[in-house]
Amino acid sequence: MPETYIRPVCLDDVDNLMTWVNDAGIVGNFADFNKVRTREDEQLWLERIVSSKNDYVFAIENECHDYVGQISVHQIYWPSQKGRLALVIGNKQEQGKGHAKRALRLLLPKALNELGLFKLWANYFATNERMRHLLASVGFKIEGYLRKEYVLPGGERRDMELVALCKDEWAQCQLKQM
Ligand SMILES: CC(C)(COP(=O)(O)OP(=O)(O)OC[C@H]1O[C@@H](n2cnc3c(N)ncnc32)[C@H](O)[C@@H]1OP(=O)(O)O)[C@@H](O)C(=O)NCCC(=O)NCCS
Repeated sequence: MPETYIRPVCLDDVDNLMTWVNDAGIVGNFADFNKVRTREDEQLWLERIVSSKNDYVFAIENECHDYVGQISVHQIYWPSQKGRLALVIGNKQEQGKGHAKRALRLLLPKALNELGLFKLWANYFATNERMRHLLASVGFKIEGYLRKEYVLPGGERRDMELVALCKDEWAQCQLKQM
């Protein structure tokens, strides 16, 4: 039976990151992820993240405590208590097993209760049906459809969707599920 855990990333996660950061099948779903990443790039990124007050990144682990991906809150703007949610299951063999949904259910109380955020937002390519379905299933609501928002390196423009979850709506969702 698949199980899912989350824990803060650490500097030792660099080789875990290297398993997916150059995989076009994974990072092709992200905006601003267009260059080849070296181990040194990822080391520097982790060093920044572990000391950041505006980014909280958690490794997602399976039932064997193997790293399968990451779930994060970035770009936290404390005056408005809001941040951007990011999510990846970088190990393709581990996709479709419910890890992303369970990781979200573990992250939401940390972000909205422990960190004290009020609003989590996310954006994704409008073609990313899995992300749309997943975020809607935990209560995220559509805030906007961003036409021709993002330009790929070849010049093609992509539409994106903007979604968000507010703490009061999440609390109501929790009550309904009890
Ligand atoms: C999107 C992603 C995080 C989902 O992770 P996952 O572990 O495979 O997702 P889960 O197994 O938890 O399934 C999530 C839901 O999506 C549904 N789903 C799967 N494929 C789908 C599809 N093509 N269309 C709609 N829904 C789909 C699943 O049925 C499940 O819903 P359910 O719980 O109601 O049955 C993962 O595929 C991924 O990392 N993709 C590449 C990176 C990415 O797109 N990240 C987001 C960029 S903003």
